[in-house]
Amino acid sequence: MRRNHVSILIASSFALLALSVAAYAASVSLPKGYEKWAKSKQQVVNDKKSLFYGIHYTYVDTKAMKAYKTGGKYTEGSQFVVVQYGIKEEGGKPVRGKKSMIVLMKKDKKQKETGGWLFAGFTPEGKPSGIDPVKNCYECHLKEARDRDLVISRFADFR
Ligand code: HEC
Repeated sequence: MRRNHVSILIASSFALLALSVAAYAASVSLPKGYEKWAKSKQQVVNDKKSLFYGIHYTYVDTKAMKAYKTGGKYTEGSQFVVVQYGIKEEGGKPVRGKKSMIVLMKKDKKQKETGGWLFAGFTPEGKPSGIDPVKNCYECHLKEARDRDLVISRFADFR
């Protein structure tokens, strides 16, 4: 009898967890019109071991641009989007392949576990990919850019 209760308890807490993960994933969407934000030049990453192996562009909204240019803390709501493509070789030059993923960072003080930024990954079609933002995003950003409010890329490389 007692055993049953425990297993029901375990089962229902898993169900709750699954529900909250699903709710989180569903509540995050790509900001409308990010394609019109300031866009970086083409960034080529040749290291096959890198998450960003391929070609990517970084989009920066007007709120984020201020701290991006001058350094310091980002204001609430600041946003970055990176659109990632594969890479092909054509006549000795790297050429954009297929779109492979989209990632978002949005300054959001509710996201205490991830340093006050919302991290989210999306499929090439813009659907949430449901990946764990702590393990799969935050830890690397913390390691690389603790002193730059978790923003890794630099304005100097943007243009
Ligand atoms: C292994 C390390 C690593 C992981 C894991 C990682 N990133 Fe990044 N991220 C980077 C690097 C390096 C850059 C800078 C790329 C450049 O120079 O253009 C970056 C840039 C970004 C940017 C542009 C703003 C900035 O910091 O320059 C966003 C948005 C972003 N990542 C979101 C994410 C999300 C969301 C995840 C999880 C799905 C994630 N990242 C996982 C290393 C990582």
